[in-house]
Amino acid sequence: MGEKIIEVSFQCSSNIALVKYWGKKPHGVQLPANPSISWNLGDLYATTTLKVFQRDTSDTPFVFTLSGKSKPSFEPKIEQFLLKIAVDCPWLKNYILHIDSENNFPHGTGIASSAAGFGALGLCIAKVEEDLGLLQNSTMDFWQRSSYLSRIGSGSACRSMYAAPAVWGETLAVEGSSDLYAVELGGEIHPLLTHWRDVVLIVDDGEKAVSSTAGHALLKDHPYAEARFAKAQLNLIDIVRAIRTGDVNRFIEIVESEALQLHAMMMTSVPYYLLICPNTLAIIEKIWQYRAETGMRLCFTLDAGANVHLLYDKKDETDTMNFVRKVLLPYCKNEQYLCSVIGLKPKQLR
Ligand code: PMV
Repeated sequence: MGEKIIEVSFQCSSNIALVKYWGKKPHGVQLPANPSISWNLGDLYATTTLKVFQRDTSDTPFVFTLSGKSKPSFEPKIEQFLLKIAVDCPWLKNYILHIDSENNFPHGTGIASSAAGFGALGLCIAKVEEDLGLLQNSTMDFWQRSSYLSRIGSGSACRSMYAAPAVWGETLAVEGSSDLYAVELGGEIHPLLTHWRDVVLIVDDGEKAVSSTAGHALLKDHPYAEARFAKAQLNLIDIVRAIRTGDVNRFIEIVESEALQLHAMMMTSVPYYLLICPNTLAIIEKIWQYRAETGMRLCFTLDAGANVHLLYDKKDETDTMNFVRKVLLPYCKNEQYLCSVIGLKPKQLR
């Protein structure tokens, strides 16, 4: 191995989709079948350090460690990612990458660690390109380029680049939106939807029965795929309007409907499958009951798993957390939950 050329380090958070990406375009590399929009989970992040060394022909192209320890089960995904981005980053063949990544939330809690991890890695690679002057004629800015690279590792990771809501996929609702990278939702975000928080209620912390990769693939011959993609397009336009005008009730309706549509698509795939479990449904019903009783404006969403994300306005923090502790924790595995602010941009540490 040759001398060390550069070292960079980024902290990048996970995100939760409000309108879901579920299904890919039949062409291209990881292009979404419909646009999606997400909020960054600022307190749940990965920290990735990338050390770049000169490479001799005999050297292996990368070394990956998770919190300093080798993690062979992650290597195939990183290897695939580096192979795929080699077309865009031909300079990679001259270097060895030492990648160390670490999450600040427990591994195996069902939180999208790949969004945070690939987000941070995309940022590190884009920074190396920028600092070493390896990128010529790019029309993308640094964040778009980071988003573009992260997307190739994990689609949803490309939305982790911004403090404001991030939109990935072409939509008439957002100027400059692209299938290739996420952009920040510019313009007005209504104050009623600016200071929200997320409590992730951990219902199941095991491996998912069906991975997201396999789930996306099942949209290919899905009987309802076209209707779903068209509905997501409309929901995207509608939620952007709700975010701009402060129509919290409509925002809640879209977010909850999107979560249920995501899982409805899983239940109607061929073969069909279920990722939610009885406690997921019990939590959703308790949230609906609490909202009806108190009139408080909070809502749930789901990722591709059994855990429930409870989204609420920061001004309702005390009441919401009392409700979580008293009513919802009995449905969580070992009473586990994680709290996060919404927003926060990635941070360069080195
Ligand atoms: O990024 P992937 O391939 O893990 O897909 C994630 C898809 C969902 O999390 C279910 C929805 C989304 O838009 O994040």
